[in-house]
Amino acid sequence: MAEAAIGVRIAGLGKSLGENILTNEDLERMVDTSDEWIRTRTGIGTRHIAARQTATSDLALRAARQALDHARLAPSDLDLIIVATVTPDMAFPSVACLLQAELAAGHAAAFDLSAACSGFLYSLDVGARFIQSGRYQHVLVVGAETLSRITDYSDRRTCVLFGDGAGAAVLEPAPAGKGMLSSVLGADGNGRDLMYLPAGGSRRPASMETVQTGLHYIKMNGNEVFKYAVRIMGDVTTQALSGAGLGVADVDLFIPHQANYRIIDATARRLGLPPEKVFVNIERYGNMSAATIPIALREAEEEGRLRDGAIVVLAAFGGGLTWAASVWRW
Ligand SMILES: CC(C)(COP(=O)(O)OP(=O)(O)OC[C@H]1O[C@@H](n2cnc3c(N)ncnc32)[C@H](O)[C@@H]1OP(=O)(O)O)[C@@H](O)C(=O)NCCC(=O)NCCS
Repeated sequence: MAEAAIGVRIAGLGKSLGENILTNEDLERMVDTSDEWIRTRTGIGTRHIAARQTATSDLALRAARQALDHARLAPSDLDLIIVATVTPDMAFPSVACLLQAELAAGHAAAFDLSAACSGFLYSLDVGARFIQSGRYQHVLVVGAETLSRITDYSDRRTCVLFGDGAGAAVLEPAPAGKGMLSSVLGADGNGRDLMYLPAGGSRRPASMETVQTGLHYIKMNGNEVFKYAVRIMGDVTTQALSGAGLGVADVDLFIPHQANYRIIDATARRLGLPPEKVFVNIERYGNMSAATIPIALREAEEEGRLRDGAIVVLAAFGGGLTWAASVWRW
């Protein structure tokens, strides 16, 4: 997408994390694994897990309130709420509707968007279009997940990877040339079996059998996902940069989806980005799907890394398969 006449900027950011911490040492007691294996293969040390009574909309609400405060806006200013999630509180109503009620964001339209780990970047793109079309002024975009609820804690190939959290961004109009400069979205449904949740939908509704055979847990072909991720993250970043008329040398900060440190490192090397320009927090959180990028953005803001005028690139890949990247001038 080329630059539009109306710019769209992020006016406020917020984050929240699952209340409990699950360490590699805890996992050593649960499955046949080791702190050394997890750290060297993934870069993960700890992850946050939502308390039993906490659902995805609770995490989303905390992040949303912080983002609104940061933007100095009230819930009543919102025209639209989009929540990217694959772990909604329930099939319907959407998390976005639950959030709208909790925030008392009376006149905002609300819907969820499903694009797995790329969901936040897909949602930013959709939210930005509503603003650029002149239809809405303020759009709340949230990435929120409780992946622990769909993780099999007896499967060492997946349970070491995932955590729970939410991140939120408030979008508003900006002068042309500021904010989102370009955005690229992509998908390949032929890769649907590489990462998926087999049961609980219309194909295989919940039954005794689906529960007993663990079909309500994430299934993943880690090796294949890894290879695809390294290739697609580099490609989609290059496409988004070229859509903005920029090159890798222009990038001040690259915020990739945090799924595996080795994927981040390999992507940065492929692109020729030095480590100091790459944001990494996976050691503390693991993979929180749609929540990873908005949480990373909030932390980059807290660390003073989103200075005025900086070129910031966001890139993600996920189940579907899906991928996305966007380029921003802060
Ligand atoms: C899952 C992942 C960490 C596995 O790392 P890997 O280096 O590819 O490891 P492999 O799958 O080849 O497994 C190597 C060995 O380690 C074992 N292993 C897997 N998980 C383990 C764990 N937690 N602890 C110890 N050993 C483990 C495997 O069983 C295998 O043993 P075997 O050779 O005896 O069969 C890696 O493939 C990955 O991160 N993939 C991408 C996943 C992802 O990002 N998903 C979300 C996308 S949004």
